[in-house]
Amino acid sequence: MEHVLPVGMLAAALLLVLWLLWLACCRWRDALSGRSLGLLQTVRAPLLLIAHPDDECMFFAPTILGMLREQRSLYVLCCSTGNYYNQGEIRKNELIQSCSALGIPSSNVTLIDHRDLPDDPNVQWDTNLLSDLIMKHIKDKKIDAVVTFDEGGVSGHPNHIALYNALRSLQCSGKIPKGCAVFVLETVNIFRKYLSVLDLPISWLYGHDVCIALSGVQYKQAKEAMKCHQSQLLWFRHVYLLFSRYMMINSLSLHVCKEKSTLKDS
Ligand SMILES: *[C@@H]1O[C@H](CO)[C@@H](O)[C@H](O)[C@H]1NC(C)=O
Ligand SMILES: [Zn+2]
Repeated sequence: MEHVLPVGMLAAALLLVLWLLWLACCRWRDALSGRSLGLLQTVRAPLLLIAHPDDECMFFAPTILGMLREQRSLYVLCCSTGNYYNQGEIRKNELIQSCSALGIPSSNVTLIDHRDLPDDPNVQWDTNLLSDLIMKHIKDKKIDAVVTFDEGGVSGHPNHIALYNALRSLQCSGKIPKGCAVFVLETVNIFRKYLSVLDLPISWLYGHDVCIALSGVQYKQAKEAMKCHQSQLLWFRHVYLLFSRYMMINSLSLHVCKEKSTLKDS
């Protein structure tokens, strides 16, 4: 009789573990089959807006590969040549190579080389100038969703945050076409940032509008793309490649303008 209790507890524990495993498998399968695209599912011509060559694979590889897995077309607009160390020319080419490794043809990649938009954390990019350039691209390519950084800019780089500010201002001033959605990449804390794939359960728990995870094969593809950025592959980048969650997971939220009503009222 005294065995009944431990056996019962063991069975309960086993059931719990099986249930958790089953849950994890379902989530994983959903994520891999593209069901995780969520609100991005219905988008026809999305634009990925980045600040520097290498942002596309350091931060957005899961979004890019997740969209292309679903045979979505994709445009990339990079707002600087990454000229901080005078490597602009080299880095332009690296961007094209990297995008091609990710499956985006060079004809879908645009790079802005503007004197007032240097790759420099100490230069505040002008929101109006940036908004105008982005707006022109949205109209030209009939973009119906823009994906970019959130207000944290993932790494906190002011150029990343400038993109968010430009898009927010376009959205809040009502300039962005109706039906063009804005998605921002969630900035997570430094602990989660380097959890790699172990951050998946945490990302799922928070239930984002979009949560994309890569399969092992796609992760290799993302790493191949990163290798195209030879000029950037210093030792700490290799560490980043190994541990960063952004190489495996992207969680995005649909951005809405919270200031709109106050703008209208005033
Ligand atoms: C590139 O853009 C064209 C339209 O110009 C589009 O049809 C195509 O699907 C895009 N390719 C990718 C891989 O996004
Ligand atoms: Zn960057």
